[in-house]
Order: sequence, then structure tokens, then C-alpha cells
Amino acid sequence: VAKVAVVGAGQTRFGALPSGGRALFAEAVQAALSSVDKGMAPGEVEEAWIGSVGTGGWQLGNLAALAGEEAALSSIGLHRVENACASSGFAFRDAYLAVKSGAVQVALAGGLEKMTDLSGAHQRYWLGVSGETEWERLAGLTFGGVYGLIASRHFREFGTGREDLARVAVKAHRNASKNPAAHFRKEISIEDAMTAPAVSEPLHLYDCCPVSDGATAAILASEEVARKWTDSPVWVRGSGAATDLLAVHQRESLTSLGATKKAARAAMREAGVSVRDVKVAEVHDCFTIAELIALEDLGFAPAGGAAKMTADGETGIGGRIPVNPSGGLKAKGHPLGATGTGQVCELFKQLRGQADKGREVKGAEVALAHNVGGSGATCAVHVLGI
Ligand code: COA
Repeated sequence: VAKVAVVGAGQTRFGALPSGGRALFAEAVQAALSSVDKGMAPGEVEEAWIGSVGTGGWQLGNLAALAGEEAALSSIGLHRVENACASSGFAFRDAYLAVKSGAVQVALAGGLEKMTDLSGAHQRYWLGVSGETEWERLAGLTFGGVYGLIASRHFREFGTGREDLARVAVKAHRNASKNPAAHFRKEISIEDAMTAPAVSEPLHLYDCCPVSDGATAAILASEEVARKWTDSPVWVRGSGAATDLLAVHQRESLTSLGATKKAARAAMREAGVSVRDVKVAEVHDCFTIAELIALEDLGFAPAGGAAKMTADGETGIGGRIPVNPSGGLKAKGHPLGATGTGQVCELFKQLRGQADKGREVKGAEVALAHNVGGSGATCAVHVLGI
């Protein structure tokens, strides 16, 4: 079975950006190509998978064709992948499987989303389309609402409290303050988080990821050709994907995501590693409670144990397992379709010792990326290593 390497990865800044979707994606592809140590032209990419929800209805049909135009990818096979916020985690998996199968030697996985130019009501609608339609969206439940219910249940089952969530937000903002690509580059205090306006109890403003624009891209190559592009490849050691029931009320538990557990088990089995081997992780913290639950489902902490782990500083830079050194979705930002390959961009830098000053995870050799769609219906997990 052939090994697959990531030989380049790059992204735009995340935030409220003036450029349109085409230009954003072209910028991300250019950044990924420029990050290839020995240089790579767009013509080397044989096929590409592009994650996007198509927020705002910008280009619902044939989005990949449009995205490829300015990125000089328009003559190759382009696929649009839509799996809500996990769109580009799945795009990355598709590109990985294509290279691993031997069908192509060089593939690109990426994602893009343009969200900030919509009105508030339009944004809520386009976020809502990835939730269950009959029982959730049409009944008025937003994503903040779903995660508010999940947090309330976690509080009741495990005694978690708002201050536990605030610690996740403070860490995210601290890491993002050192990340030039982040949407928010401002540190916050526990008090800021505790006193911010409520969004959906018990979640307040700093418990939520923002609405962001952005694009990301990663270039994958077979072992056979990887050294032609770089002497420092990052290997995709394992990939896992899983799906769960769409509506949260149909699931067995509100405080655990079955799709995360299954996808993580598959990725770690393929990689031949256990969670103890993972030294840096980017997890899907669309809301602060989601980071705590991810840590528990991935096995970094026992059920109900992630709040203590966070309070003890284990997830901070310099801690036992630094989580979201980029600032995560919470503070780096969350342009839905771009987030999954955005996590790969961060881990590519971290594993190669190229992360920005003040948020480097020194000596990490195994990393994990965890990308969730919606409230947990879809999940892609990747284990990367050097
Ligand atoms: N974290 C921190 N600050 C935030 C923020 C966030 N998530 N969202 C907005 N802000 C800040 C803005 O920068 C702005 O600051 P300023 O006044 O200093 O300029 C201020 O809060 C108001 O911004 P605004 O855009 O008017 O906020 P809003 O009330 O319209 O939206 C949320 C806030 C939390 C409702 C919105 O960001 C949201 O819906 N987030 C969740 C997105 C989501 O569900 N994604 C999918 C996940 S599965």
C-alpha cells in the first residue's frame, strides 16, 4: 500500500475579507504551491477536491469549476465536496484515497467559503441548512441552539460550568493572537468571556466561532514522487471518516459524538498509533463545548474529564497535548468549507517546525486533525506524521 505525503499547504487569512470566492481560492492554491520546498507549478496537480457549503447560494452548481478558474486548475478533474463544516476534511480524505490508490500522483485538497457579506438572517439560514430540516431548522433551532442544548446536558451529566468553557475560549484567543492568519488576534480574559452577551444559554459570545471568509489548500503526493518536491514531507499516516444520525434528538447521547469516535478509531488504527502518541491536535471547536467533547471522544480525556485537563493547562502551548495552536475555529475563524484543510495547513507547519513564534509545539512528530460537519453528523479524522 503506497504512502501519501503532504508536500505543500497554504491558506488565506481568515476573517471578513474583501475578495470574492474565486480570488480567495486562487490565493490559497498559490500559497500551497509556494510552500512546496522545491517549487511546484499548478500544472503538476492532476486532480483536485474542493470543500464548500456554497454559503449564500454563491455558486451551488459546478462550484469546483468556478473555483478552479483563477487558480489555474481549470483543465483537470475538479470535484466539489459538500459535507457541511467537514467539507474539506472529506475533500482531503478523497484526495488521499485517490493518491493512495495509484490513480494520481499529485492531488490537491482545499476548501473555500465566503460568508461575511450576507445579512444576519441570511447567514443564519445558510448555517441552518446543514442541520436536520424538519425537526431542527424549521422548528427554529440554530447551531448555537443545538450546542447550547449539548452544553446544558454536559453541565448536568458531568458538573461542567461556564468557567470551564471560558478557559477554552481564553486559550483559543491567546493562540490566535500569535497567528497572522487568524480572524481574531485579540487576547481575552476569563472575565471577558464570562460577562459577554448570551447567544444561546449557556453559550455566550466568546463560546462561539465567528462567521468568516477564507480558503485553504494542501498538496498531496505519492511516496514515489514526494521527494521530487520536498526533503521534509509530512506523511498522512491514517484517515478515518464516519457519519451519524443528522438530528441530535435521534442520537444515543448528547454529550458524545459517535462519528468522532468511529473516525478517530479508524484513523489511529491505520496509522498504528494510540492517542498517547499524538503530540499536537487541531480539533473542531465550533463552540467551546465542542472542544471539551472532542477531547473526550478522541480519548485525550475520559468522559467528563476535559474541563479539568484544560484547567490544568494540559491543552495549552507547552502542555501535555497542545490543542488548537492555530486558535481553532473559535478564534482562528471558521469559513465552513475551508476549515478541514485549514487544520492540515496548521499541522503541516507545526510538524515541520515552521509555526509562528510563541505558538510552536516543539518536537511534535505525530499530529491529529478532527473536522466535524454540523452538530456531529459527519466527521473526518486524519493522523499526520514526520
Ligand atoms: N467571538 C468573538 N467575537 C465575536 C464573535 C465571536 N464568535 N462574533 C462576533 N464577534 C465580535 C465582532 O468582532 C464584533 O466586535 P466589534 O464590535 O468590536 O467590532 C462584535 O462581536 C459584534 O459582531 P457581529 O458580527 O455583529 O456579531 P453577531 O451578534 O452578528 O454574531 C454570533 C455573533 C456568535 C451569533 C455569530 O458569530 C455566529 O453565529 N457564530 C456561530 C457560527 C456558526 O454557527 N458556525 C457553524 C458552526 S457548526
